[in-house]
Amino acid sequence: MKFYIETYGCQMNISDSELISSILSKDQFIHTTKLNEADVIIFNTCSVRKHAEDRVIGRIAQEISRKRYNPNLKIGVIGCMAQRLGEKLHNINGKIDFVVGVDQYKKIPELIHNSVEKDEFLSNTIVDHSEIYHELYPTHSGKYNAFVTIMRGCNNFCTYCIVPYTRGRERSRSIEDILREVENVGNIGFKDVTLLGQNVNSYNFNNKNFPELLEQINEIDSIKRIRFVTSHPKDLSDDLIKVMADSEKVCEHIHLPLQSGDNDVLKRMKRGYTIEHYLEIVKKLRENMPEIAITTDIIAGFPGETDNQFQKTYDVMKKIKYDYAFTFKYSPREGTKAADFTNQIQEDIRLKRLQKLIKLQESITLAKYQDQIGKTKEIYVEKISKKSDKEVAGKSRDFKITVFKGSKNLIGKFVKVKITDAVGWTLKGESIQEIGDRR
Ligand code: SAH
Ligand code: SF4
Ligand code: F3S
Repeated sequence: MKFYIETYGCQMNISDSELISSILSKDQFIHTTKLNEADVIIFNTCSVRKHAEDRVIGRIAQEISRKRYNPNLKIGVIGCMAQRLGEKLHNINGKIDFVVGVDQYKKIPELIHNSVEKDEFLSNTIVDHSEIYHELYPTHSGKYNAFVTIMRGCNNFCTYCIVPYTRGRERSRSIEDILREVENVGNIGFKDVTLLGQNVNSYNFNNKNFPELLEQINEIDSIKRIRFVTSHPKDLSDDLIKVMADSEKVCEHIHLPLQSGDNDVLKRMKRGYTIEHYLEIVKKLRENMPEIAITTDIIAGFPGETDNQFQKTYDVMKKIKYDYAFTFKYSPREGTKAADFTNQIQEDIRLKRLQKLIKLQESITLAKYQDQIGKTKEIYVEKISKKSDKEVAGKSRDFKITVFKGSKNLIGKFVKVKITDAVGWTLKGESIQEIGDRR
């Protein structure tokens, strides 16, 4: 049987889809990237905002129409929305065949077989707070950058967030399992790894913490670049900053969600840090790594956010000057604390605030990219440029897409590039020196 997976949400879901591909492939299922070839279509879903759920429910309805001319087609829903809604999904769309929660992915092959045999709706969303998928290694879908999950779940319960309810309690994967996976991906040619967890800074396995894990990964020869998401500011230690600065392979890039620039809002979000503490971390990061790119997540219109509090977020963004900011309009999620707060902000105000943040960040990002002109950057070439086959595109260590003249034999290599221009959010440059595939 052939399976197709469509993935929504964060990198964790991309990584889970790769894990599921590996589980299914071991059971003689064949992966296809063509929808019309598929015997099973799996939607790996996200619940973080209402819009994320609505979008996928629409997509499922669209593909279910294929059953008219392919009655044997099976449609499955997995991921965070599957965990959150479980069997209720069958009421939303009666043609869904199976639903599997985030801790039950090992059961997917069995569920599909049963679904074919019995031709009835099946669901397994049993929560298992200890499931870490030990000794199961995803089939990495890219060629150059591999996601490696180092922990699952979240214990923080930020008051707006659904993730702790869908993903369950935090658990760390064993160091040995992580090192084995990183070595494996290095051996098959990936040179860039991104370590994943909802809060990587609280990684802990047998008293080994995240900085210690990074130091060990830094020793793996075949890997040249290391990144990680997401860092929670409340758990970011001086040790981590030191290891980032001292480890050659750890890239000068950190994603550090701010959420709000106002202390009262941060408190009601239950974020566990103050704006003063956050600014102190940013200062230390920049002192230790002057070239570091800092990106963030911000929520506009959290319940009770006053104009003045919103302005503080705006001012902090202006002060910090992020390289990029993912900005979101607050979306109430059923079951979370903030959804029950009685001081919800009107939709049109939330939207207006969001638009202000987007506009501000656009101008900051533009200026940041302009600042790169004249600098020499190391680019890991990933592909031929979309715009011209005489140009290649890749990423700098600080995660900026850079395009320069070159041919396909540069793909997979590191090249020193002098930046000559910034067009929107792409840097343009000239190759100075090919460093090859070993830095
Ligand atoms: N674990 C990560 C990110 C989880 S979700 C972290 O702690 O940063 C990614 C982002 O979605 C969050 O950082 C937050 O900015 C946003 N988000 C989460 N819940 C939201 C909600 N209910 N409405 C709007 N944005 C939300
Ligand atoms: Fe959600 Fe907060 Fe956990 Fe991030 S740290 S996943 S925002 S509860
Ligand atoms: Fe990720 Fe969305 Fe789940 S952001 S953890 S897929 S709710």
